[in-house]
Amino acid sequence: MKTTTNLVTEAWQLLERSIVYYGDRPVGTVAACDPSVEALNYDQCFVRDFVSSALVFLTHGRPEIVRNFLVETLALQSGEKQMDYFYAGRGLMPASFKVVTAEGKQYLVADFGEHAIGRVTPVDSCLWWIILLRAYVKATGDLDLAHQPEFQQGILWILKLCMADRFDMYPTMLVPDGAFMIDRRMGVDGHPLEIQTLFYAALMSARELLAPGPRNDIHIQVINQRLSILNYHMRQYYWLDARRLNTIYRYHGEEFGEGAVNKFNIYPDSIPEWTFDWMPDEGGYLAGNLGPARLDFRFFALGNLMAVVSSLTNAEESRQVMNLIEQRWDDLVGQMPMKICYPAVVDQEWKILTGCDPKNVPWSYHNGGSWPMLLWLMAAACQKTGRTDLCRRAMAIAERRLSEDEWPEYYDGKAGRYVGKASRKYQTWTIAGYLLAQDFLDNPSHLDLICFDEDPQFFDWMYRLQEF
Ligand code: GLC
Repeated sequence: MKTTTNLVTEAWQLLERSIVYYGDRPVGTVAACDPSVEALNYDQCFVRDFVSSALVFLTHGRPEIVRNFLVETLALQSGEKQMDYFYAGRGLMPASFKVVTAEGKQYLVADFGEHAIGRVTPVDSCLWWIILLRAYVKATGDLDLAHQPEFQQGILWILKLCMADRFDMYPTMLVPDGAFMIDRRMGVDGHPLEIQTLFYAALMSARELLAPGPRNDIHIQVINQRLSILNYHMRQYYWLDARRLNTIYRYHGEEFGEGAVNKFNIYPDSIPEWTFDWMPDEGGYLAGNLGPARLDFRFFALGNLMAVVSSLTNAEESRQVMNLIEQRWDDLVGQMPMKICYPAVVDQEWKILTGCDPKNVPWSYHNGGSWPMLLWLMAAACQKTGRTDLCRRAMAIAERRLSEDEWPEYYDGKAGRYVGKASRKYQTWTIAGYLLAQDFLDNPSHLDLICFDEDPQFFDWMYRLQEF
């Protein structure tokens, strides 16, 4: 087995190889460099995939590629895109882009989902973009870039798109299916956790990035209000632990009016069998989704880790999330950190939720597969909560296989023991995720780029409002 130093050297070489150039400027990294399979769109730079590469470049004193990426993707945002002559909402950021050469000239061509399998909308791109812009400013001190008029405009378009008055009754963001990392039908339409935690982190970022001035003061007020309500909503209604599970188990249905305890009319019979034993005494997590008569009890890793990193969960809840990971180690980490979601949906439920998706069969890909790229978020959450012991354990497990298996996109099986059925090799966010996790372990101060401090006012503010 290779030493950590050798693995880091190898990962750096692979990361360099994945860089995309526009003219002679580096502007991103491709999703994967796997010569053995047809590239499809894996030769493009995905916004969500680039975040881990970008953070690695920022923490190693190479901000220019991140700056170029932010400038170029911002220019793509304003281009109006259409599918079947329908214009996508202004502010949307592409899922991915590529450099195309025609008649001796280079162009950037964006995909807003109109080429993606299933024509899924990349809602998370614009949220990651703001989060990355803040990380860039934190790393370089270059607030001037964020204060440029086009950047301010870009941020406001995103905010307007995300906070527009629509039909929603909730402060969370309503999105179509496959709107984020899980970009396939998986029962993640509506109000999925990952989007809500990214939304929260993006709002926290935006209030730091808006230039001072009377107009923006109003925007910041609106952001603060939304943050409070979102924080309250997520922690009141998505939070699950043994106590809360017991409350739901004893719920009455059909409660009408303002005094209803069971506000979303969750029927106790909808609690899946596995939940009762799986829930530890000491530990908890945020549920995967919430809607009328719908609470998705599955554990989704990215949303929960991001909740810890962004301080959406308070210190005690974050501690409980880490406890859960420790207590359910074999299920969530097993032989490769870590499960994208737990458990897999099977049989009839698999048919209904995924539309019989052969790529998302039980314990594969998005349906309970293990994604090493999640290591960087795990490292950030572990470092933030003082649980580096967990992260070191996870890294040691990953190091046994990643290089030997040629840095796969994902692993399959209940314990994450097998390289994924259709997994790419040399997946860039696997490589960058490993480097970043190592970096967060070695340099805790780098966490500043992605972490947020708790704002205790948010929760209190909602309670005060309710008393009022
Ligand atoms: C798959 C993943 C998506 C990722 C893309 C490129 O479609 O589901 O999250 O961005 O591959 O790696």
